[in-house]
Amino acid sequence: MCGIVGFTGTQQAAPVLLEGLKKLEYRGYDSAGVAVMDKDRIAVSKVTGRIASLCEKTGQGKAVPGTTGVGHTRWATHGAPTEENAHPHLSNDGKFAIVHNGIIENYLELREELTGRGYHFESQTDTEVIVHLIEMYYRGSVREALIRTTNRLQGSYALGVICTEEPEKIFAVREASPLILGIGVGENFFASDVTALVSYTRNVIYLEDGEYAELTPDSVRVFDCSGRILDKEISRVTWDVRAAEKGGYAHFMLKEIMEQPGAVKATIEPRLKNGKVVFDELGMTEKDLRSIRKIVITACGSAYYAGCSGKYVLESLCRIPVEVELASELRYSDPLIDSHTLLIVISQSGETADTIAALKEGRERGAKTLAIVNVLGSSIAKLAGMTVYTWAGPEIAVATTKGFTTQLVVLYLLAVYFADLQGLAASVYAQLIASLQALPRQIQQAIDMNPSIPELAGKYHGSSSLFFIGRNTDYAVALEGALKMKEISYLHAEAYAAGELKHGTIALIEEHTPVIALCCNWTIMEKTMNNIVEVKARGAEVLALSFRGNQKILSAADDFLFIPDTDPLFSAVTEIIPLQLLAYYTALENGCDIDKPKNLAKSVTVE
Ligand code: F6R
Repeated sequence: MCGIVGFTGTQQAAPVLLEGLKKLEYRGYDSAGVAVMDKDRIAVSKVTGRIASLCEKTGQGKAVPGTTGVGHTRWATHGAPTEENAHPHLSNDGKFAIVHNGIIENYLELREELTGRGYHFESQTDTEVIVHLIEMYYRGSVREALIRTTNRLQGSYALGVICTEEPEKIFAVREASPLILGIGVGENFFASDVTALVSYTRNVIYLEDGEYAELTPDSVRVFDCSGRILDKEISRVTWDVRAAEKGGYAHFMLKEIMEQPGAVKATIEPRLKNGKVVFDELGMTEKDLRSIRKIVITACGSAYYAGCSGKYVLESLCRIPVEVELASELRYSDPLIDSHTLLIVISQSGETADTIAALKEGRERGAKTLAIVNVLGSSIAKLAGMTVYTWAGPEIAVATTKGFTTQLVVLYLLAVYFADLQGLAASVYAQLIASLQALPRQIQQAIDMNPSIPELAGKYHGSSSLFFIGRNTDYAVALEGALKMKEISYLHAEAYAAGELKHGTIALIEEHTPVIALCCNWTIMEKTMNNIVEVKARGAEVLALSFRGNQKILSAADDFLFIPDTDPLFSAVTEIIPLQLLAYYTALENGCDIDKPKNLAKSVTVE
């Protein structure tokens, strides 16, 4: 959701900025722009729509001279996606250009004040107040003007600024919105995430809330709000540049689906040592665990569904009550959370605004907090008391796949770890470890054993509604399967707990209504099979998802998806694979923009 980049060096800035913006496209946007310092003036180019149009407008950036600049992709919040509202925004005197991620909550009162002082507004954005404040406070030092400006702002921001008075510099500051500095040789950068930086440098500084940065081609200085220089650690990005490229696949989503055996392996392997689950990053003792009376899991979207699935595993292995709450609800619910609560927050991006707010709420109430996060150095990773990384590598497609399955696997590992702290029989423990170790191979099998998915997508892609049903963990997977279908194929898809059908939903089942029935839980298989019979009696077309060896299902349904024999506790991670592929091929049939579905953003940094 919005992306910013900044560059200062000796090569032409605009092509570098455009390359960076292309890498941020996956975050979601509807307009884009760059501002480049050209001698003593700032040249701005903006477009609505795709970066490709901005590249065309600027001759791939070559038509824009200058070696210092900032760029932006905007996902409209305040004001429609028009050129006027696209960033960068200029000050009235033309000396400053800014790009901004986030939302300024008090912009209306600031706008009124600035209008009263004679400042003229070109856009409807909240952002524009910032550039006029900077102009108003400027007395010869951009850094000082920036500090005075940010003192007036309420909300979230990652800001990039250039100024004609200090033409080789780019300035940056962040508050509750991601911003990373890239340290090059004779050139320096900033960006909303590392994917925009890795083709230029792997040395990065993660800026923290309330920190300001001043970059020239040869220097990077970071300050706090009193102007004191901070000694920041330079981190090295270890993943390969190719990890953020399509590598021959038609879409990032397909590539990321196929990467799941490796991603899950990368999540599990470092946590298994000598046949035991180890979490060096937690440092939890049996006594700590005994003080926990309940676990609350909170997250948004797919991460929330990972939590719904994890609840069954945690409760089953640890016998600790687990509540799962949407972060957007928890933050406003006066939750029953205290120092005896373990609050687990789950987030691929680590930047989801609602999840951050729920985490802060939990901290304030004294809960122990544990974050399951993919993006290194992200806000949630830093805010939580304990952080467990999923190590899935960069996830570029907006619809999460490997992000989700690695979150599931961390929850499984945690459940086994906690159960062991409480005392597990050696034979049970050994069996669980063996089941975990088998998952990467079983995920690969789940990919391989469903060659009919493109054909099934051909059959179902024109449906007006699809229903996903299941019980317990099957139900949690049904929720995620339906979300995948909705977000990328734009088909209406709903998930129901199979036992709930009779209480209303069955009224919607008619001739040829597709029902995707998840039957991967042996203990309640018969119950879901009964539901299959019920919907078939009303004319539904049933696509059943079950274990390869389940003979009974073959006579009950019309079409089939299979998973290998997976430990039923952990089967969600194999079950979701065919559903991801079904959503992918259905979206392909429907000609959708699979990696960048309409209206969606990868990292939802606004409420
Ligand atoms: C769906 C999807 C979203 C995210 C949700 C939370 O495919 O990607 O539902 O799961 O926006 O995002 P994170 O995990 O970054 O907090």
